[in-house]
Amino acid sequence: MTVKKLFIKTYGCQMNVYDSERMAESLADLGGGEGYVVTETPDDADMILLNTCHIREKAAEKVYSELGRYKGLKAAKPDLKIGVAGCVAQAEGEEIIRRQPMVDLVVGPQSYHKLPQLTAKAGLGQKALDTDFPEEDKFEHLKARPKAKRGPTAFLTVQEGCDKFCAFCVVPYTRGAEVSRPAERVMREARDLVERGVREITLLGQNVNAYHGHDGGLAGLIRELAAIDGLERIRFTTSHPNDMDEALIAAHGDCEKLMPYLHLPVQAGSDRILKRMNRQHTAEQYLGLIERLRAARPDLHLSGDFIVGFPEETEEDFQATMELVRAVRYGSAFSFKYSERPGTPAAERAQVPEAEKDDRLQRLQALLTQQQRALQDAMVGREVQVLFEKPGRQPGQMVGKSEYLHAVHVEAPGIGPGDLARVRIESSGPNSLKGVLLPS
Ligand code: 5AD
Ligand code: SF4
Repeated sequence: MTVKKLFIKTYGCQMNVYDSERMAESLADLGGGEGYVVTETPDDADMILLNTCHIREKAAEKVYSELGRYKGLKAAKPDLKIGVAGCVAQAEGEEIIRRQPMVDLVVGPQSYHKLPQLTAKAGLGQKALDTDFPEEDKFEHLKARPKAKRGPTAFLTVQEGCDKFCAFCVVPYTRGAEVSRPAERVMREARDLVERGVREITLLGQNVNAYHGHDGGLAGLIRELAAIDGLERIRFTTSHPNDMDEALIAAHGDCEKLMPYLHLPVQAGSDRILKRMNRQHTAEQYLGLIERLRAARPDLHLSGDFIVGFPEETEEDFQATMELVRAVRYGSAFSFKYSERPGTPAAERAQVPEAEKDDRLQRLQALLTQQQRALQDAMVGREVQVLFEKPGRQPGQMVGKSEYLHAVHVEAPGIGPGDLARVRIESSGPNSLKGVLLPS
């Protein structure tokens, strides 16, 4: 078999991480003795694939400048194939080849199953482009996943696309309408992952709690997954508050394998801004939802996304965001300055000055960091369950994650990746906890 080398650079969200894995697998064996193995550097690659993200500013410009860096490699090795995948590919399409003629292949997020054919076309020296939104389930048309052993945690995409049309967001345009994978296909892939050594699955979707591939929605899927022997932990991300139904709240209360950690973006705390964002809920409704979730699972750790400096946001609006954050007490959070995305409604509106955005972001991040640190420090003295993932920096040390997604370092001779153990937390550092193993 002629083995060629594939370098994939992944930008953006966890769904892109999952997609990159699946793309690499689909190119591993192309039939006829052809195939690609993954390499960690572009220098010796036969194909370079950029799996891009379009969510925030200058995404396309970053891709063009990254492509520019490969000019020398392409000149030295004319057979080198260069491809652009992901949401920038979807948004820019043919424009990418026009602006950067050394690009051989452009493939949108819903067309990855066509990658082998597109690669063959590129191999013949032709430009290969596909940014369609086909009807079929691309994951079903991708090659079956290999059987090789793998690490203890895995992502599994169950839902894609979004119908919410928040006024700032490109996702509904780049990933298309909401589509759920049928539960039996998800179950098959999950069982396969568990057989290969996976102990924790994170279900992925742009709007994962709107999942409707199971009669019982996402909660129904989670309960079915929880019955898989050997699967110890289930997580899901990312969710919209309006799709957090009673069944899912109840699952947080009584499904032991569903971890007590929830990423539930609110974006802003001012009702005026939430309305302008087209979020379709108020701050009070969000806080009420958090209350119900905490009633079901009192130790739930919450995470969120925030945007500061959305068009027309005043200092008073921003203070409402700070107030909401104080009321929730987040375990972790991501916060961003609003950035104009061409083609989205908010891009047409009066923009907040950059200096103002910077200042608000700083103040919000200071508060979020303080909360994050306080919740992490409060773990000291508590007992947690750790799923170990890899060796730590010191010999004999292992690192894993607690139920709450905190990284935990433990002196753990005899423990390996994939083991679960009870740990007592002894200290809290800037980004992780340290603990001691408890007798099982
Ligand atoms: N500007 C800033 N942040 C954005 N996000 C999405 N679109 C934008 C934008 N135009 C953030 C939101 C979302 C996260 C994935 O990215 O907070 O939840
Ligand atoms: Fe974008 Fe999420 Fe809003 Fe959908 S719900 S439009 S993915 S921010």
